[in-house]
Amino acid sequence: MKQLEGKRIFVTGGGGALGRASSLLFSREGAMVSVVDINTEAAEETVRMITAQGGTAVAIIADVSDETQVQRAVGEAVDAFGGLDTLFNNAGIMPHQDKSFLDADLDQWHFISNVNLHSTMLCSKYAVPHIANEGGGAVVNMSSFLAVIGCTYPQDAYAASKGAISSLTRSMAVQLGSKNIRVNALAPGPIMTAHVEQFFPDPEARRIRLERVPLARFGVPEDAAGLACFLASEAASWITGQIIVLDGGISSNYL
Ligand SMILES: NC(=O)c1ccc[n+]([C@@H]2O[C@H](COP(=O)([O-])OP(=O)(O)OC[C@H]3O[C@@H](n4cnc5c(N)ncnc54)[C@H](O)[C@@H]3O)[C@@H](O)[C@H]2O)c1
Repeated sequence: MKQLEGKRIFVTGGGGALGRASSLLFSREGAMVSVVDINTEAAEETVRMITAQGGTAVAIIADVSDETQVQRAVGEAVDAFGGLDTLFNNAGIMPHQDKSFLDADLDQWHFISNVNLHSTMLCSKYAVPHIANEGGGAVVNMSSFLAVIGCTYPQDAYAASKGAISSLTRSMAVQLGSKNIRVNALAPGPIMTAHVEQFFPDPEARRIRLERVPLARFGVPEDAAGLACFLASEAASWITGQIIVLDGGISSNYL
């Protein structure tokens, strides 16, 4: 039996590294996937990849920080598959200019909060009533290990947005338990994607970071996809309100 047989899943940022790996896994596990992204080409490529592996998916183009667009996107997903069972609030940004609060630019701070945090609230606001209509389901949010530990090289707007997502996750879980909707979050450490690679420009920078990783490697998108799939599935049916760290052990290591 596949883990997500017949489930209808709304994946934000489904054209990106973790969103694509997750969408592909959800599809292999039997789900129908709404691949939601601001980037048309990326969303359509994920849909092509899902179709190529024999799955069913639709590309929905929306800015998930915009309330009108989120409302429309959720409507399109419900129309496409006749309902909604699972929401994966994965879309997020981590601009390189985001450093310390001491020299933060307020417009950029708002932008990061809008895309990371406010989108999580907005997509949940419009998707959860549909999930409740189905008798329950799951919401999976995307936090970060930077919501759990500080960093010598700060990314304060990002870390603050992810900390708020962790808090929102717990509050949503408490409110939605009676509707049989579980709400959990992933909190990944550095996962090697094209974007994260730019933070480690040379082999020495990578070596220094890896010294702190008990499992001695960076994450891969499939690590996040596997946990998101588990949290969305019945195997996690008694888990809610949890922020689950996957970071190769970094946050357990006092170096
Ligand atoms: N890669 C990592 O190391 C890492 C670690 C911890 C958490 N995360 C989180 O995982 C999530 C995915 O990260 P990723 O590494 O796959 O990044 P990514 O840049 O590859 O993917 C993000 C996707 O979100 C989309 N997106 C951005 N703004 C959007 C908006 N306003 N509306 C709709 N879509 C939008 C982008 O177009 C992109 O396809 C993010 O929330 C990120 O913060 C990543």
